[in-house]
Amino acid sequence: MSLLPIPASRHESSPLHHERASFRARRSSGRLAPQYLIWPLFVQDGVDQMTPIASMPGCARVSIDRAIEQVAEATCAGLAGIALFPVVPDHLKDPRGRESRNQDGLMPRAIRALKAAVPDLLILSDVALDPYSSDGHDGVVINGKIDNDTTLPLLAEMAVVQAQAGADLVAPSDMMDGRIGVIRRALDGAGYPHVGICSYAVKYAAAFYGPFREALESAPRIGDKRTYQMDPGNHREALREIRLDEAEGADWLMVKPGLPYLDIVRLVRAHSALPVAVYHVSGEYAMLKAAAVAGAFRYEEALLESLASMRRAGADLIVTYSALDAARLLCVEESRRKREVEARLR
Ligand code: PBG
Repeated sequence: MSLLPIPASRHESSPLHHERASFRARRSSGRLAPQYLIWPLFVQDGVDQMTPIASMPGCARVSIDRAIEQVAEATCAGLAGIALFPVVPDHLKDPRGRESRNQDGLMPRAIRALKAAVPDLLILSDVALDPYSSDGHDGVVINGKIDNDTTLPLLAEMAVVQAQAGADLVAPSDMMDGRIGVIRRALDGAGYPHVGICSYAVKYAAAFYGPFREALESAPRIGDKRTYQMDPGNHREALREIRLDEAEGADWLMVKPGLPYLDIVRLVRAHSALPVAVYHVSGEYAMLKAAAVAGAFRYEEALLESLASMRRAGADLIVTYSALDAARLLCVEESRRKREVEARLR
């Protein structure tokens, strides 16, 4: 049997990097579209409120009525969904974050209102104590330590309250051990077997969360989060975390932060069949904006390149404060392409 010779001349005459743009785009594993993007929203109490966040130019905390306008835009732009975070006033915070289980609290009210306004948009609701905790920690602090087992039932109850309000997926971002199983059983037991769990399975103790903590006024009042979030130098632990969360019933796995941890996204992608999401976090957003203001690059270009890199690494979904910006840029690109084709056909 004779093997056909490899036509080396073809490579010489058409080097890969000279391919036509249309061909290149179809081979790309970093393909972007609004349907892969999830937009985090910070809701606060009040009416017609919009409070800018200093370290995140272009982002604001908004009251529910304004959030409804924003989710309407998000739906028109074709985004996959939103990730909701509540801004809880200090007088409602206590060591056990009681407000997190209040059925008439800000979060359940926001979920109900947004779900009624745009039923098709996915709502991911944050499950963690930090927005409600007077200690600013994701778990209950007892004698200066985070008490994992005291925290678990509180998280489960919070998840049920959010499911009751209409969340599509609850998203535990707290990193307590065993939380996925406890939340899954609580949801099933309360009659919400269809509500999914997006686990922040691999969440590093990163410096990149600073602006988020400013937005929620939720910075830890004592200590830091290194006892429950992962060590940035460790990648093997990521595999343990995803195995545990998968076994306990997670529906999606999230890696966080994004760009500095794309090796982890790739690792999780290779070891799990579940959808993988990556969180392009507040500090990454702040970096893009600050560098653009300093004239280092154009925000729009660096943004699309960053998001494409996350898709290339294997992320199915990207949670990003730039979701709406990106969707608009992609839409402009798409219409330009269509106009060009039409002009040629004329
Ligand atoms: C805490 C939580 C954090 C973020 C989401 N949930 C910060 C933290 O762990 O202190 C960060 C998101 C971001 O920086 O954009 N439950």
